[in-house]
Amino acid sequence: MKAIEIRNKYLDFFKRHGHAVIPSASLIPENDPSVLFTTAGMQPLVPYLLGEKHPEGTRLTDYQKCLRTNDIDEVGDNRHLTYFEMLGNWSLGDYFKEESIKMSFEFLTKELHIPVEKLSVTCFAGDDDCPRDDVSANVWKEVGILDGHIYFYGKDDNWWIAGEEGPCGPDTEMFYDTGKPACGPDCQPSCDCGKYVEIWNNVFMEYYKDKNGYSKLKQRNVDTGLGLERMTMLLQGKETPFDTELFSPVMEKIQALQKVDSIESRRIIAEHLRSSMMIIADGGRPSNIDRGYVLRRLIRRMIRHMNKLQIDLSELSTIIDINVDNLKEMYPELEQNRETIKNVINEEKDKFVKTLTHGEREFQKEMQKAKENGKSEIDAKVVFRLYDTYGFPPEVTKELADENDMTVDLKGFEELFKAHQEKSRMGSTQKFKGGLADQNEKTIAYHTATHLLHQALRTVLGDHVKQSGSNITEERLRFDFTHPQKMTKEEIQKVEDLVNEQIQRDLPVTCEEISYEDAKNSGAIGLFTDKYGDKVKVYTIGDFSKEICGGPHVTHTGDMGRFKIKKEESSSSGIRRIKAILIKE
Ligand code: ALA
Repeated sequence: MKAIEIRNKYLDFFKRHGHAVIPSASLIPENDPSVLFTTAGMQPLVPYLLGEKHPEGTRLTDYQKCLRTNDIDEVGDNRHLTYFEMLGNWSLGDYFKEESIKMSFEFLTKELHIPVEKLSVTCFAGDDDCPRDDVSANVWKEVGILDGHIYFYGKDDNWWIAGEEGPCGPDTEMFYDTGKPACGPDCQPSCDCGKYVEIWNNVFMEYYKDKNGYSKLKQRNVDTGLGLERMTMLLQGKETPFDTELFSPVMEKIQALQKVDSIESRRIIAEHLRSSMMIIADGGRPSNIDRGYVLRRLIRRMIRHMNKLQIDLSELSTIIDINVDNLKEMYPELEQNRETIKNVINEEKDKFVKTLTHGEREFQKEMQKAKENGKSEIDAKVVFRLYDTYGFPPEVTKELADENDMTVDLKGFEELFKAHQEKSRMGSTQKFKGGLADQNEKTIAYHTATHLLHQALRTVLGDHVKQSGSNITEERLRFDFTHPQKMTKEEIQKVEDLVNEQIQRDLPVTCEEISYEDAKNSGAIGLFTDKYGDKVKVYTIGDFSKEICGGPHVTHTGDMGRFKIKKEESSSSGIRRIKAILIKE
């Protein structure tokens, strides 16, 4: 069975069982600055798990695009992935353990036709916070899980929470027996030898954890997650996800292009390329901090492994095309962003190639120095300088060091890197605060003009336009947004005219405070709120613009002045920057 068929079967099955199929949220969390990427299907649903009403009801199902970066260095082995797709179904205070387990069992055995003897399950063993989950174990017995195939484990294995704080609870996990020989008499699902592979996790979310400990949630939820790539691999009897149709076309192309052989490098290239494409399609761009840095790392590591295999880097566009063609049925956004993806990756490649030569030379010098001083480790400061000055990702330094039988102080690097990030974050917070403190008639008008500009850009260029930065002074506004190419003169003129038209219409600007969800459902654009579940302010400008924003704004557009775009330029790859002024006449 192909991955897309598994996805469709899953969504159909849960639809038949009364679930509303909801779309995957973006890989880039829209209103949660606390995480870099969406890492689980439940993440965009947190407000509803906490009790807010979901417009689609109490039973939901979806496929969710996810990215987890903690295992980035493991990619290249036979199982680790950064990007993956999670199939999930949710009960928001609706059904609980029994129905959830029965549906999972039915789906696995009747829809995917997995023989029951291949299934094992694990349940929570109980502790001071929460009792042993005999309810789940009994349901598993009742549906037909074989004797000796039900295990109990503690919090380390059978408790699920995203991070340190949030909704959580005991879980029951389903494992697939690959048929490989047991690694010993104690071989169990919890063991890492590869005989058992976890295929599905049903979390019974009835607790909330914060720094004071656990408390009960208003409602009892179910949150499940099934990894699509893994399931596809198992059902196809393949050893790794790279052997499935999700990766095979690109793996084959890389093999045809390579002059040096390394399965590990081929996997890294294929994996990092897919992840990068998915991030870019959702609006991510390479940079030196946070998610931009993750993307930069993925692209640069991929390039480095292409170099290792001696693949001509001009082949990148061909490889991207193959991947888009292969995955576009599952992810139409890849087709829609095909050119942007190519542009962003190629631009990053060009930057990297320039710094690589320089950086490698520096590395050689530093290595020589270390050796002369009788050291076999590259100093954290050196790793940081290579990163900061030459754009050399630390793992590239590590790989070069490995090749030369040297070690690197990556822990020390992490500390330096964190300190550096903290500094730049403080810098931007200060800038932000400064901006808000400095409100007067002029900056307020520029603020409203920014909303008009944002909407005008979307009307003229398309809905792919998303704000990626804004800065206002008394003299001008500056607005950064996602758009793959330079705007034409005509487009600039149209945007300018459209903004001036709204100013001339003297539209009223109104503000309402509503829940974030209602705001989103009303079609409001905009990005930043502090927390899930908070009320947000939505500013509406006549029939033209609706945007989530803290304000303040003018009350009518009429006397803002004439809007003039002074400059349209590139800000970074895939991001354009407009500087504009308001002229009082
Ligand atoms: N949220 C659960 C997980 O990610 C289902 O495993």
